[in-house]
Amino acid sequence: MDRPYVHINVAATADGKIDTFERKGAAISSARDKERVDRLRAEADAVMVGGRTLRDEDPKLTVKSKILRAERMARGLTENPTKVGVASRLDLKPDSNFLTAGPARIFLFTTPQTDETQRSMLRSLNAEVYTLGAERVDLIAALRVLKENGINRLMVEGGAALNFELMRLGLVDELTIYVAPMIFGGEKAPTTAAGPGLVRSEAVSLKLARVESWDDGGVVLQYKVEMLK
Ligand SMILES: NC(=O)c1ccc[n+]([C@@H]2O[C@H](COP(=O)([O-])OP(=O)(O)OC[C@H]3O[C@@H](n4cnc5c(N)ncnc54)[C@H](OP(=O)(O)O)[C@@H]3O)[C@@H](O)[C@H]2O)c1
Repeated sequence: MDRPYVHINVAATADGKIDTFERKGAAISSARDKERVDRLRAEADAVMVGGRTLRDEDPKLTVKSKILRAERMARGLTENPTKVGVASRLDLKPDSNFLTAGPARIFLFTTPQTDETQRSMLRSLNAEVYTLGAERVDLIAALRVLKENGINRLMVEGGAALNFELMRLGLVDELTIYVAPMIFGGEKAPTTAAGPGLVRSEAVSLKLARVESWDDGGVVLQYKVEMLK
C-alpha cells in the first residue's frame, strides 16, 4: 500500500458535534479520554490536522506523558510523532504551538495559494513544505509522501472537513469516537465529518470493532472502515 495505515480519532457530543457553534475548540474529552488520545499519539508515526484546526486551535500535537515519550525513545523512535498540517493557504505564526512545541519533525501540505513570505518563514523553522494540488491539497499524494518518509501509522485529529475528505477518498482504515455525555446542538457546529456530504448509496460503511462504556459517562466506539470496492 502506498499510504500509511490511517486512524481518525474524534471526540464528539451525543449529537455528533466536535465543537460548539463558536468554533473555539470546546473541551469534549474527559481526563481519561485525554490519556487514551495521548497513548494513540505515542503509537503513531505522525499526527495530522486540517487547516482550520491549525488556525483556530493551534494544537501542540506532542505526546504529553513523559513516560510515553521515554517509551518511544526506548523503541528507537523520536520523542514525538511527526506533525502534519493540511491547508489550502497556510498562515501560521512563527511562535505558534504547532511550529514551536517539540521536538518534532513537521510536514505541511499546501497549494500555490500559500505565499512566498510564509514559505520562507516555515523553511527557516525547518518545516518541510509540499505543494500538492491547485485549489485544495491532493490528499492521495500527501499520504504517498508521508509513506515515502517512513510514516507507516498516521493518526488524524480532525477537523470535520479533513475527516470527511479522507473517508470519501477511501483513505481511512479506522475511526475511533469518544462520545461524551453532552449535547451542543447548533446547525453551524462542526460534526465528525463535514464537506459536501454523500448520498445514501455512497455512505462510508463502518464495521463496529469495539465498544467501551466508561464511568465518566462517555462511550468509546471503535470502527474499522470498510474499504471501497
Ligand atoms: N473534537 C474533536 O475531536 C476535534 C478535533 C479537531 C478539530 N475539531 C474542531 O473541528 C473544527 C475544524 O474543522 P473544519 O472542518 O472547519 O476544518 P479542518 O478539517 O480542521 O480543516 C480543513 C482545512 O483543510 C484544508 N484543505 C486543503 N485541502 C483539503 C482537502 N483535500 N480536503 C479537505 N480539506 C482540505 C481546507 O482548506 P479550504 O477549505 O480553504 O480549501 C481547510 O482549511 C474546529 O471547530 C475544531 O475545534 C474538533
